[in-house]
Amino acid sequence: MKILVINGPNLNMLGVREPGIYGTDSYDTLCRRVTEHAEKKGVSVSIYQSNHEGDLVDRIQAAYGAADGIIINPAAYTHTSVALLDALKAVGLPTVEVHLSDVASREDFRQVSYVRLYAEKTVTGKGIDGYLEALDYLAEKAK
Ligand code: DQA
Repeated sequence: MKILVINGPNLNMLGVREPGIYGTDSYDTLCRRVTEHAEKKGVSVSIYQSNHEGDLVDRIQAAYGAADGIIINPAAYTHTSVALLDALKAVGLPTVEVHLSDVASREDFRQVSYVRLYAEKTVTGKGIDGYLEALDYLAEKAK
């Protein structure tokens, strides 16, 4: 099984960025924990991060015929991007939306998620563990 993990803008700044909200673990730690968990599960994982909406669209499209599922934290594009929603719909892969923080308890503008209109599951407020839960869900589903 092959899973693509996509991270949107500013997630590369993890550990530095608003640690009170996003924690003190670095982006490298996030990647390491996801990779180690995937190895344990016998799942092949590819992790991609970009600050650019079009690059994220390109990477989702490239998953067509190449991946079995997508885990996506679209970051700020969660709340604005119809393009990411359309890209996910276009490739049609099982998708889990992940947010490190508990978006439901934050600002009004974070209450909209376009990607959620397609994602079959959303995990919020569990930090990096949320990515592991998403991976478990997709791996279980593929059995
Ligand atoms: C986030 C929540 C978004 O509202 C925010 O713009 C992010 C990160 C999260 O992981 O909690 O960049 O997706």
